Amino acid sequence: MLTDFDIKNNNWAKTSDGENVLCNQADAYAAVPQLALRPIAIQARNIAIQARNIAKWFGEGNTRTVAVDGASFDIYFGEMLFIVGPSGGGKTTLLRIISGKMRPNEGEVIVLGKNIGCLDKDDLAHFRLSTIAVLFQDYHLLPRLTTAENVAIPWILKKSSWRRALVEAKKYLSIVGLEDRADIVVAKLSHGEQQRVAIARAMISQPSILILDEPTLSLDGDAVRKILAFIHGKILNEKTCVLIVTRDARIFEFADRIMYMEDGKITGFCKGMK
Ligand SMILES: Nc1ncnc2c1ncn2[C@@H]1O[C@H](COP(=O)(O)OP(=O)(O)O)[C@@H](O)[C@H]1O
Ligand SMILES: [Mg+2]
Repeated sequence: MLTDFDIKNNNWAKTSDGENVLCNQADAYAAVPQLALRPIAIQARNIAIQARNIAKWFGEGNTRTVAVDGASFDIYFGEMLFIVGPSGGGKTTLLRIISGKMRPNEGEVIVLGKNIGCLDKDDLAHFRLSTIAVLFQDYHLLPRLTTAENVAIPWILKKSSWRRALVEAKKYLSIVGLEDRADIVVAKLSHGEQQRVAIARAMISQPSILILDEPTLSLDGDAVRKILAFIHGKILNEKTCVLIVTRDARIFEFADRIMYMEDGKITGFCKGMK
């Protein structure tokens, strides 16, 4: 039951037990009639992730490194947001925090209306599995499993049968152009091929939030453009969003919005070319 509407957070409504839930404009009006008096509070676009004053540091005293220094931003459904900035600027740390892999020292992250800092380890793991797929620079593939088995893992974790999961995995392998490598042990693939396996594995669970950290470092231009065109055409819709950290200007044309980050701070936004 919605009892209040948080003007500052626009599309977020508080339930009677204090949880933030995402609601679209129609739901908000239906649930809270007095909202009709303040339509200005409601934005047309729904927010997937809200990051509020995120700070993260490593070490203490003289050895303290501030990786993220008070970052606040929203990510909307339906957009491909790029994070761009020099190496060491805190981009990977920020991705780890908003995907729930790492806790911030300060600030909060609200994903699909849930403050993920309030979830315990098991709830967080479950929530991540059904919501967020992350492809980090180190792909975390299991070297002794085959290509198809690696891609099938998210389905196995969701308790699908191996047979079913492998059929699905092969669909995604053909999308990334690796259908003929399905039964080869991953350790035998090239670096670029392994990256494509990781991309297929990230996509197979059809996450509402897809996060890619420097996806293009070891792929040639054509492969990169093919995969991003696929993500833009087939994965991105009004119920999903894609967040990409990259320094690769070859793919800026796919961005809806570009966020600049330097020395742990967000230094600006600009509209992308899409
Ligand atoms: N686990 C860690 N322990 C100590 N320092 C870290 C750790 N992770 C990142 N850092 C430091 O935080 C800063 C930001 O790193 P990172 O988030 O990887 O930046 P980027 O992805 O923009 O290159 C760097 O100075 C880095 O050395
Ligand atoms: Mg990085």
